[in-house]
Amino acid sequence: MAKNIAILGSTGSIGVQTLEAAKNLGIRVSALTANKNIELLAEQAKAFKPLMVSIAEQGLAAALADRLKGTGIEVYSGDEGLKAAAEIEGADTVVTSIVGIAGLVPTIHAIRRGRNIALANKETLVSAGEIVMAEAVRMGVTVFPIDSEHSAIYQCLAGNRKQDVDRLILTASGGPFRGKKRHELKDVTLSQALKHPNWSMGSKITIDSATMMNKGLEVIEARWLFGFMPDMIQVVIHPQSIIHSMVEYKDGSVIGQLGSPDMRIPIQLALTWPERAGNPFSRLDLLKCGSLTFQEPDMDTFRCLGLAFEALEAGGTMPAAMNGANEAAVALFMEEKIGFCDIPRLIEKVMLAHNVNTMAGLDDIIEVDKWARRMAGGSVCI
Ligand SMILES: NC(=O)c1ccc[n+]([C@@H]2O[C@H](COP(=O)([O-])OP(=O)(O)OC[C@H]3O[C@@H](n4cnc5c(N)ncnc54)[C@H](OP(=O)(O)O)[C@@H]3O)[C@@H](O)[C@H]2O)c1
Repeated sequence: MAKNIAILGSTGSIGVQTLEAAKNLGIRVSALTANKNIELLAEQAKAFKPLMVSIAEQGLAAALADRLKGTGIEVYSGDEGLKAAAEIEGADTVVTSIVGIAGLVPTIHAIRRGRNIALANKETLVSAGEIVMAEAVRMGVTVFPIDSEHSAIYQCLAGNRKQDVDRLILTASGGPFRGKKRHELKDVTLSQALKHPNWSMGSKITIDSATMMNKGLEVIEARWLFGFMPDMIQVVIHPQSIIHSMVEYKDGSVIGQLGSPDMRIPIQLALTWPERAGNPFSRLDLLKCGSLTFQEPDMDTFRCLGLAFEALEAGGTMPAAMNGANEAAVALFMEEKIGFCDIPRLIEKVMLAHNVNTMAGLDDIIEVDKWARRMAGGSVCI
């Protein structure tokens, strides 16, 4: 069980819920970070009294320091601040809840310092899964997933032999546009895309859920977390989000993990595994669940899911290119500069233009990410 943690991205949806879990479990919090939200970061710092806080936007460091005057809490900023938080003395676990590729380098710093990782930031494993997991093995640290699907699979694999697994079954709610056809998505607005039926999350992952890129990212995340080949990973639409994911074994037995759709439960488990703490959050009442249903995903309408499988198949730097293009496309959609259906179009364009490097190191991956963003942004102006 974690005793002392650093939270990278403490002001986001996962970060805030992690602080709630830490309070519930009596875990010490040594470092907190945010991108711009100095108000919430300062409030969290006053409540949890970490050794340090860091704000990614360097121009906001002075204002943050002002808010924390007299507390003795050190204030950092920029990449150096993220590194300092990832490596903070005393923490045994780093919770990576930054959104996007910005989480990759600090995760590597934390692993190299021998910290266990409670991983929410899926873009890290999507872009550099092979490198990150190899570093974790080299350093002997655990990467425990926070994503509810991967937490479910982790639990369903526990106590069983890897060679007995036939497939991993990732469940997906289908998002707000489940059941719609491609032509019906043409005029989707930002506010419609931001309404997830079952989960309350940050805006980027909510848009990813609407395009189903989120499930595609999770397929790649599962490939690296659990070490199974892509053809052993299946996506099944399960609109109720009660079964968080399943593992099917050779003998036909399917083991699933059920729970109420509340991220505080997998967050807490990532901090206590292999122990389980009490749940003051929410519980599943099977008698109130109604029917549990399952459908095949519509890969034609939700092209992003297929693109993620194609990126995984292509291997090397292709998932990093896909991820960078997706981050850029989602940002453009959130700025209302492109339409909803332009998101998969832009990503596919970038993927078609990408020359895969199968021997890439961390620096190459970061370069590919930058290139993919430029390509995606440039494509809009053409
Ligand atoms: N939310 C969920 O239920 C959920 C479930 C499973 C997995 N995840 C994954 O968890 C990660 C976080 O998701 P979220 O929903 O919590 O996102 P979020 O609410 O948008 O929070 C993101 C956090 O990262 C910080 N941040 C953003 N850009 C940054 C940058 N360039 N440098 C440093 N910090 C930055 C934000 O700071 P500011 O507040 O200052 O902007 C905030 O603290 C994502 O990878 C997501 O896919 C989320």
